[in-house]
Amino acid sequence: MTSAQTAVTDYAIARAQDEAFWQAIAARYDIEPGPINFEHGYFGRMSREVLKTYEQHLAYVNRSNAVYVRQRFDTEDSETIRADLASLLEVRPQEVALTRCASESLQSLIRNYNALQPGDQVLISDLDYNSVQSAMRWLAKSRGVEVIEITHKHPASYDSLLAAYRDAFAGHPRLKLMALTHVTHRTGLVMPVQAIASAATEHGVDIILDGAHALGQLDFKLSDLDVAFAGFNLQKWMGAPLSLGFIYVKQDRISAIDPDMGDTRYAPDDILGLAPYGTPNIPALMTLPKVFAEHREIGGSAVKGARLAYLRDLWVREARNMDGIEVLTPDDPRLYCGITSFRFQGHADQPLMTRRLLDEHGIFAVPRVGSACGPCIRITPGFITSADDVARLTHALRSLA
Ligand SMILES: Cc1ncc(COP(=O)(O)O)c(C=O)c1O
Repeated sequence: MTSAQTAVTDYAIARAQDEAFWQAIAARYDIEPGPINFEHGYFGRMSREVLKTYEQHLAYVNRSNAVYVRQRFDTEDSETIRADLASLLEVRPQEVALTRCASESLQSLIRNYNALQPGDQVLISDLDYNSVQSAMRWLAKSRGVEVIEITHKHPASYDSLLAAYRDAFAGHPRLKLMALTHVTHRTGLVMPVQAIASAATEHGVDIILDGAHALGQLDFKLSDLDVAFAGFNLQKWMGAPLSLGFIYVKQDRISAIDPDMGDTRYAPDDILGLAPYGTPNIPALMTLPKVFAEHREIGGSAVKGARLAYLRDLWVREARNMDGIEVLTPDDPRLYCGITSFRFQGHADQPLMTRRLLDEHGIFAVPRVGSACGPCIRITPGFITSADDVARLTHALRSLA
């Protein structure tokens, strides 16, 4: 780490613990009264200011209609917004195309990846997102490839995750393409993307990275990850209006992805051709500069991520010592973020226990299945979560365990 990076980390860690600062951030959001929300993983709230900006753009686009959209938005303003996104990501504007969500972005990349021949192999794991797994399995039918499915060891470690991919590369010489999830929605486990990408490159395997949960809560530089293809959304940890995502393709790899469904509006090397056709949510797109400004003003992903990880540590530290609770997500700081899953060991039915958390303790969370490590309950704090909310959670866990 450089000294500048260490200074950013120290600042972020100090900020993360500053309850008064986060109380002021929480006051920027309107909150419906109800249970304590530990399911901020679905989508983020817009701040009052972002919502106001969105509503203003909605009213303006509704008033001005195609006269504004055709003459200004389509020609100039959409490009300014794309450049703003590129600047946030520290990539070239030609490397990003806005879409309607992460699934749309990832499905376009998977569907249009043109380097597969019948008999090639593609790879997914038990921790990938369902719609990504099914899109990769669909390649078997549409391209005649074989789908290799691996399951990760539990508990996972940095070495076990890397070894699982290394073994898969060594054991399947016809592997050409793999999905990789930066932060899995099942347990919040963070993949060592850079190390896996470096091993993949050695074996000539391309990665399509699912960054749905990474952007805004993990402090990373996209170009440092060494992946050529990625899909993201903007509604989770960036706090943008619903209905926005984007595709990233490293500039020198654009020829590996065909324009979506043969879209001929753009040159074949223009990433805009990868965004599935359709009228987008224009007022939501127009709100993005405000969203990015607010994100930067709070301290960016470094501060937001440090806060979420700090709140996670508060409950996990207690829960690790509770009889009857198994925390599934490892404590290696390289492998976790704000999202962490656990299970009640003495109770077989995790959905029932999720219901009891809500009914008996006013804690809202979601059960998760699908990973090889078994059913669990996912806890996801947000930017309105306080240390007191976490104390309510640990009390609930102790009494239900
Ligand atoms: C890991 C992961 N990938 C992809 C998605 C899909 O994102 P979107 O709803 O933007 O399509 C999600 C949504 O929760 C997710 O958690």
